[in-house]
Amino acid sequence: MQITENQDLTQYNTFHVPAKARYFVLVENKSELPQLIDFANHKQLPILILGQGSNVLFTRDLNMIVTKFNFSNLQITSQTHDSTIIQVQAGKIWDNFVAWTVENNLYGAVNLSFIPGTVGAAPVQNIGAYGTEVAQIIEKVEVFDLQTLNFTEIHKQNCQFAYRSSIFKTQLKNKAFITSVTFKLSKKPYFNLQYKDLQHLKNNPGLNLQLLRQTIGQIRHKKLPDPKTIGNAGSFFKNPIVSKEQARQLKDRWPQMPQYQLNNAVKIPAGWLIDNLGLKGYKMGQAAVYQHNALVLVNLGNATGKQILKLANFIIDKVFEIYKIKLEPEVNIF
Ligand code: EPU
Repeated sequence: MQITENQDLTQYNTFHVPAKARYFVLVENKSELPQLIDFANHKQLPILILGQGSNVLFTRDLNMIVTKFNFSNLQITSQTHDSTIIQVQAGKIWDNFVAWTVENNLYGAVNLSFIPGTVGAAPVQNIGAYGTEVAQIIEKVEVFDLQTLNFTEIHKQNCQFAYRSSIFKTQLKNKAFITSVTFKLSKKPYFNLQYKDLQHLKNNPGLNLQLLRQTIGQIRHKKLPDPKTIGNAGSFFKNPIVSKEQARQLKDRWPQMPQYQLNNAVKIPAGWLIDNLGLKGYKMGQAAVYQHNALVLVNLGNATGKQILKLANFIIDKVFEIYKIKLEPEVNIF
């Protein structure tokens, strides 16, 4: 376990905003976790586990023990004729895992290519893209229980996976750390091409995992800025879910509004709501709405977290004023 004091976090968050961590701890092995808890108890400070910092906005210095997990082993734990079960430790970079599945001809993860973040962070908000959610390939999640200091496994059925949510974000928030995730991937070819920009691949005789990964890379490149060059955290807001009645009224007023039917409700793309207000490219100092995608807020250079938050609140207010819909941030704000 390696501890530094007053660590600058600019390089540890993809918005690249400045913030200092009172303590910054790198944990090399999960066996060090009891030691981390001892340290936190001694300092009487909360612990924040940071993945790649790709879904956080820091608006102040953090009087916390900001921790990164460096353990990242990948192990095939069992196989059948049709599937492979793989346990991956929390610190592994998510897309390195996806790339590994593609190289090994395993099906199920490829639509989640190029999502920034770590394997341990993926179940927390049930990452999703292009018709796939990580919940669909998770078997179980191993956690370190902060009360009992034991490792336990939570089966997928008990993870309460929902759109951008799970038990790790609700009941178990600050109560357990994810230390590894076990996935079940298919050896039998299958492709999820339901997303509109992927449907053209259905008729492509050369369709394989590499081609699908490459196509997803191209779609993402058009809509999502690379955090290495423009600070951002992907979608800033969740797509709101409204009642069927409210959706009908909205459709009467804005016939072009895209709407996705769920069982008993309707999901509306927040990007469309913001775009339709003419806010794509809107700037507030160094914080801006990305010019190619209204759902993404960007740091044009040296924005602070507070400035980005101010822009986010401005958007929340505008969207509420016009559509009577309350947008919720998808990123975690500190
Ligand atoms: N749209 C606009 N203007 C915009 C942005 C979007 O009109 O500026 C419209 C699009 O034309 C489309 C609809 O909104 O009709 C939905 O857009 P898109 O398919 O790009 O997806 P999204 O709903 O904006 C979600 C996820 C993304 C994920 C994509 C693709 C959320 C909050 N975001 O975005 O996830 O990559 O679908 O599956 O659910 C992330 O979570 O950080 C993320 C990038």
